[in-house]
Amino acid sequence: MTSPSPQQVIESQRQDWNRVAGGWEKWDRFFDEQMAFLNHRLVADARLRSGMRVLDLGSGTGYPALLAAQTVWPSGNVTGIDLAEQMLEAARRKTASLKLSNITFKTGDVTTLPFEAASFDAITTRFCLMFLPEIPKAVAEIARILKPDTWVAAAVWSAPEKNPYLKIPIDVIKQFAELPPPDPAAPGIFRLAKPGELAGMLEQAGLTNISEQEFLGDVRFAAADDYFSSLIDIAAPIQNLWAKLSAAQQTEAKQRIIQTAGQYRRGSAIALPIAVRMVAAKKPG
Ligand SMILES: C[S@@+](CC[C@H](N)C(=O)[O-])C[C@H]1O[C@@H](n2cnc3c(N)ncnc32)[C@H](O)[C@@H]1O
Repeated sequence: MTSPSPQQVIESQRQDWNRVAGGWEKWDRFFDEQMAFLNHRLVADARLRSGMRVLDLGSGTGYPALLAAQTVWPSGNVTGIDLAEQMLEAARRKTASLKLSNITFKTGDVTTLPFEAASFDAITTRFCLMFLPEIPKAVAEIARILKPDTWVAAAVWSAPEKNPYLKIPIDVIKQFAELPPPDPAAPGIFRLAKPGELAGMLEQAGLTNISEQEFLGDVRFAAADDYFSSLIDIAAPIQNLWAKLSAAQQTEAKQRIIQTAGQYRRGSAIALPIAVRMVAAKKPG
């Protein structure tokens, strides 16, 4: 089978994330709380301060763009860019409810950024870069539009075995459906999981002071049922695999996912481990 073209990947990404935008809005409060620690880490790694002009790549429903806007307030501003208009619509609704007037969301592809060279004081990006068909192209764009002496901070998923939160459903789906062997170069959840891979691309693009850390945490659910429903509602790549199962297989697979997640009970919560690769780099002065 031939690989899809970059344009085809981008088009399916757009459709996938638009399709799950309602799920992101439904679970927003929960994931906002659970994943806040990642946003704070990105804001720190990008050295955000009041007055800065910040770009957030693949903002989705506003993470970490909304925290960035609060951090650079009142004289700074944030632009969030994403392929999926419906994800951005949710982000705009939150912006309005938070009464933030220093953030703008634009539809676009992060591999071709419509901005002048050296026009931003910082770039943040959470869980976006691994879905791009041409990551080095986006990294070159990052290097182009950062001002000298400013930082980019990125969060991407680390290895599947350290991310039971994401791996459990994939493993169960594999028990029912014949999935093609994973192509390590294909866009997807774990495309940038390998240590040094994103860091190497940033270095190739001329960025320096590169730091990389596997940041460990967990997502805590009151019940394994909530884990199952939220993941199927928001994780577009997992939803795509799920759609390969028949209704009867889905019933059985759901039970197995819930049962496996139940093994992660800690006290009153189901705590599913996550491992996130945090990579930061500076454009030389
Ligand atoms: C998992 S969501 C993450 C959203 C948000 N940053 C967060 O962490 O909650 C991935 C986002 O990347 C966006 N995305 C994927 N490929 C993109 C591209 N080429 N250009 C812009 N956005 C893209 C998707 O539309 C989606 O909103």
